[in-house]
Amino acid sequence: MSKVKKAIIPAAGLGTRFLPATKTVPKEMLTIVDAPIIFYVVEEAVKAGIEDIVLIAGRGKHSIEDFFDTSYELEDRLAKEGKSHLLDRLAHIRSMANIISIRQKQALGLGHAVLSGLPVVGKEPFAVLLGDEITMGFRGEPNVTAQLVSSFNETETSTIAIMEVLEKDVSKYGIADVEEVKPGFFKVNSLIEKPKPHQTKSRWALPGRYVFDSEIMNLLKNATPSLNGEIQLTDSMKVLCESRGLNAMTFKANRYDAGDKLGYLQANIELGLRNPELQSGLRDYILAISKKLKNGFLE
Ligand code: G1P
Repeated sequence: MSKVKKAIIPAAGLGTRFLPATKTVPKEMLTIVDAPIIFYVVEEAVKAGIEDIVLIAGRGKHSIEDFFDTSYELEDRLAKEGKSHLLDRLAHIRSMANIISIRQKQALGLGHAVLSGLPVVGKEPFAVLLGDEITMGFRGEPNVTAQLVSSFNETETSTIAIMEVLEKDVSKYGIADVEEVKPGFFKVNSLIEKPKPHQTKSRWALPGRYVFDSEIMNLLKNATPSLNGEIQLTDSMKVLCESRGLNAMTFKANRYDAGDKLGYLQANIELGLRNPELQSGLRDYILAISKKLKNGFLE
């Protein structure tokens, strides 16, 4: 079976949860510390061995492509000013992966966005990374996509990441009904997209990291719209469990729901606390402000 060298990153959403910021800035370009969300997602894919990133973009998303391209004037200026550290960083971003952009011409849902990547992935296996979630592998450990790729290579079966959520949160996610095969590794029996708590007993949610073989594309080609009139990836995955089978695994990594305002702020704080330039200043600030918070709210 061929190796997982391609990843699809859907980035065509309107980002309404972050309005008004996303009126002019794509949500994928909102900043975590000093890089846009999309940078962290592409970095995860690249560290998992992905070479070609298929960006499924919609209108007004040119800045994402520009971010991974050369900026001649800027780089020339940095070179003249001797700012080699910044230049190296920009060169690294530019050479991280091949970014192939495909327009999703209609907003027909996540399943349709993934199917839009078919001309590039063809019959090869591929990863899907949703940019609403940022995951950071523990130091020296493989990241979530890398863990899925290893499992896919071993089992030759499509594999998705799952995480446990509270009952009140099941309606925010695709939910998998699973059967444990060995610790942390499961066979998926069924899936449901954003159920009401009474529609499922499962608390295993999909955080937006998947590795598929090409069968999912065949299923997506024949999929029909369901929840919200959209072609849901989850529906085709449900058919996949019944045909070729689908595995799921828990993961060891920090995860931030950057698609949510609170999760986005948490990601900024935690990544800031890991940034050598910022960590001591930010830590002192958090300690000082939490003392004030003990006495109530900020004035
Ligand atoms: C999508 C998927 C859902 C998944 C979620 C993770 O939903 O449809 O299955 O659990 O991403 O963030 P969205 O949040 O785009 O509505």
